Amino acid sequence: MHTDTLRSLAAKRGLLIGTAFCSGAFKHHPEYGDLIAREFNCLVAENDMKLDVLQPVRGQFDFSRPDVMMSFARKHDMKVRAVPLVWHIALPAWAEGKTFSRNEALDILREHIFTVMQYYRGQVIAWDVVNEALSDKEPGLRKEGPWYNSIGTDYVEQAYHMAHEADPQAVLFYNDYNMDCMNDKAGRCYMWIKELLARGVPIHGIGLQCHFQLEWPPAKAALSDNIKRFNDLGLIVHMTELDVWLAKDASADHLLQQAEVYCDIFQAALSAKDCPAILLWGLADCHSWIPGQTGGKYDHALIFDRQYRPKPAYAAIAALLRGDR
Ligand code: G3I
Repeated sequence: MHTDTLRSLAAKRGLLIGTAFCSGAFKHHPEYGDLIAREFNCLVAENDMKLDVLQPVRGQFDFSRPDVMMSFARKHDMKVRAVPLVWHIALPAWAEGKTFSRNEALDILREHIFTVMQYYRGQVIAWDVVNEALSDKEPGLRKEGPWYNSIGTDYVEQAYHMAHEADPQAVLFYNDYNMDCMNDKAGRCYMWIKELLARGVPIHGIGLQCHFQLEWPPAKAALSDNIKRFNDLGLIVHMTELDVWLAKDASADHLLQQAEVYCDIFQAALSAKDCPAILLWGLADCHSWIPGQTGGKYDHALIFDRQYRPKPAYAAIAALLRGDR
């Protein structure tokens, strides 16, 4: 009978293993915090660091929700990733659907980035400065949201320069989805980031979100090759929002297959040159965004079930980290 936890096993392999933290779940379920503190050594706010939460009224900042997570992380000696400073979603009413003058929008981003980064200065290991800016289908940025509509295509690099100015020591990431393996979007992201780096834009890391479905599991080699090419640009890679979705009526066998997929992903991180953090997008299936997002079609995406019991993926990841598989 093994008594190791994922966090102790991960630490021995030099890996951060994290989860998305939900302050509401923490408040209402005592077992939630206990399990997180036992099994994880890294946190990210699922929603509490987004613009709608931090700046519900323009110019008035409210850090009360993320501060719950930050003090929990301090108490339990955990690292924190901070996300996201600039996104086209999770906007407060004063920004949703709005277009500002270019200068006004730049001022808004500047005030937000400086205020948030200086408030949490020295307390986080990485900042996702811009989240999900790339178009899913065509070359270039997605043409939506107040920042693109008001500032134009250079809003991304403006944001990185501001973040670097706000805290020159901060480690700055670009984070996106559906670009975990060697697909078209990943290729476009790679070329774009390479170009931004060549122009001196301060980007230090890439967040691969890693939302996967069991029907379309990642090919381990394609995940490794993608990590490698970003590492070869001198960038750190984090897996930032990992989950593996099953059909709603998944069987015991599907849970075993899910465990294999989780292991492949952890293996890709462990064998990479520089992929030192894997964060799951939630603790237990009862808190996952997946059923809500998919109209109930998918579920069971995490490594703990609705009663906070470990699923086969938990044991498989532990065995992998222990060196037993
Ligand atoms: O907290 C409010 C509550 O007060 C209100 O009554 C209720 C009514 O709709 O909404 C609650 O807020 C919801 C929030 O989740 C907390 O549950 C928002 O409507 C809902 O939009 C929000 O969804 C989040 C989504 O991002 C948009 O911000 C998901 O929880 C979160 O898992 C998801 O996370 C994103 C990452 O940030 C970026 N990558 C993709 C990932 C999945 O979409």
